[in-house]
Amino acid sequence: MNKTRRMKTKYAIVFICIVALVIIEKESNIISRVSDKLIQRQNQVQTPQTPVDHNSNDTNMALNMLKLLFSKLTNRNFSDLPGDQEDKTWDRSSLSRGQKHILLLATTRTGSSFVGELFNQHGDDMFYLYEPLWHVERMLASAAEGNNATAQGGIYRDVLQGLFVCDFIPLERFIYPSPKEHVTAMLFRRESSLSLCEEPVCTPPVKDVVESYHCKIRRCGPLNLTLAAESCLSKQHHAIKTVRIRQLDSLQPLVEDPRLDIRIIQLVRDPRAILASRMVAFSMYQTWKTWAHDGQVPEDDEVVKRLQGNCDNIRMSAEVGLRQPHWLRGRYMLVRYEDIARNPMEKAQEMYRFTGIPFSDKARDWIVRNTQTTSGPSGVYSTQKNSSEQVEKWRFSIPFTLVQVVQKVCGPTMRLFGYKLVHDEKTLVNKSISLLEEKMFY
Ligand SMILES: *[C@@H]1O[C@H](CO)[C@@H](O)[C@H](O)[C@H]1NC(C)=O
Ligand SMILES: *[C@@H]1O[C@H](CO)[C@@H](O)[C@H](O)[C@H]1NC(C)=O
Ligand SMILES: *[C@@H]1O[C@H](CO)[C@@H](O)[C@H](O)[C@H]1NC(C)=O
Ligand SMILES: *[C@@H]1O[C@H](CO)[C@@H](O)[C@H](O)[C@H]1NC(C)=O
Ligand SMILES: *[C@@H]1O[C@H](CO)[C@@H](O)[C@H](O)[C@H]1NC(C)=O
Ligand SMILES: *[C@@H]1O[C@H](CO)[C@@H](O)[C@H](O)[C@H]1NC(C)=O
Repeated sequence: MNKTRRMKTKYAIVFICIVALVIIEKESNIISRVSDKLIQRQNQVQTPQTPVDHNSNDTNMALNMLKLLFSKLTNRNFSDLPGDQEDKTWDRSSLSRGQKHILLLATTRTGSSFVGELFNQHGDDMFYLYEPLWHVERMLASAAEGNNATAQGGIYRDVLQGLFVCDFIPLERFIYPSPKEHVTAMLFRRESSLSLCEEPVCTPPVKDVVESYHCKIRRCGPLNLTLAAESCLSKQHHAIKTVRIRQLDSLQPLVEDPRLDIRIIQLVRDPRAILASRMVAFSMYQTWKTWAHDGQVPEDDEVVKRLQGNCDNIRMSAEVGLRQPHWLRGRYMLVRYEDIARNPMEKAQEMYRFTGIPFSDKARDWIVRNTQTTSGPSGVYSTQKNSSEQVEKWRFSIPFTLVQVVQKVCGPTMRLFGYKLVHDEKTLVNKSISLLEEKMFY
């Protein structure tokens, strides 16, 4: 009778194993491991053993095998399964209670201030930060990590992750001079963030303290980051603009953070136009000016290599985004500066729709006010320009020699984004020839 029971147990175990095997039949490497175990087991069955030992070993082995099978099953890459994405997004949104976290990725002169402002102006439920990573970059420049792109990318990501959950402590470590009791006399472009300029975050300037911020609406004393964090926590949506992230890949842990519902907008622009614009805005582009004057560009020069590196980084990030890997699905949008400039209202609506945040009247009014004025000062950092007029201007300010260099080192990037190459100067300055392919990116 004992023997029959043992036999029954054995058959039950074999049956369970077979059922488990059928469930995971796609995992071929596990199948081979399991069948090895099964063969081992059968060998043991044939070896005479004391009944008690045999029984307990059988049971243990079956238990262990089931543990292995189930652990393999639960470790499976579920995100690869079709239809899973909706569930994940739904789950995430409920965790973050409808909060959205927008990251604007750009390089300088791509209109990122304009797009940042678009979200800054959204309204009372938006907490916006303009280039917080400025502090991190500056401090890392003198540290070993500054030369290690991987390490640097990780630090940038960690600081962003903190800021998105309203934790300023990771950023504080990079602010110089160091904040005292979480109060800092210096935060880069604080005045660009409406949330940091409104009460109660904006405290009246202290009389005998020199440092104060000139927010548009009022002057503020040193920034109490505890108050900033409280304000941040009270807002539903969060947006951060940065020109310092090199590789989209490096953000995967941030995007997968279950506390966040991230949307990434990558802004790109014709690299020929960027160079033309930077030559005006930044003095360090003197080298290019000299080359333009001489008509000769040393192509192995460090400056040209840096341009190529930048173009490659932008392209590789965009390729990751457009490939829509499981961790980025529905969370990435590529926007061309030129499309925003030609059609600011439509593009703004599109971007808002993508983020899942309602397009407020306030943001709409801001666009109307800032894209249709021709008068008024337009400084080099200004977001207030007649955008559609600006978009072709570079063609008449950049020497053809430099255009050729940019096209040579940034060719693949330009092709990906739909920027047409020109092969003679006449085409460059012929306004009736568009250098922009109509292209949809998602
Ligand atoms: C069970 O089998 C293992 C080898 O797989 C053996 O070392 C052990 O002595 C056996 N008996 C018990 C009761 O664990
Ligand atoms: C899931 O699959 C993706 C590719 O589709 C891969 O990059 C990732 O590493 C996998 N994750 C795990 C946990 O295996
Ligand atoms: C760069 O940083 C990464 C991550 O911290 C580290 O694994 C790697 O060894 C570093 N590389 C060099 C050359 O120091
Ligand atoms: C900063 O604000 C917090 C929160 O209101 C307050 O408790 C703290 O005393 C303030 N710090 C300073 C130095 O005023
Ligand atoms: C802005 O530029 C566009 C294109 O050049 C032009 O159609 C529009 O009238 C300009 N806006 C104003 C207010 O001048
Ligand atoms: C500009 O391009 C158009 C279309 O290719 C052409 O018809 C026109 O002659 C060109 N203008 C000049 C000045 O080359």
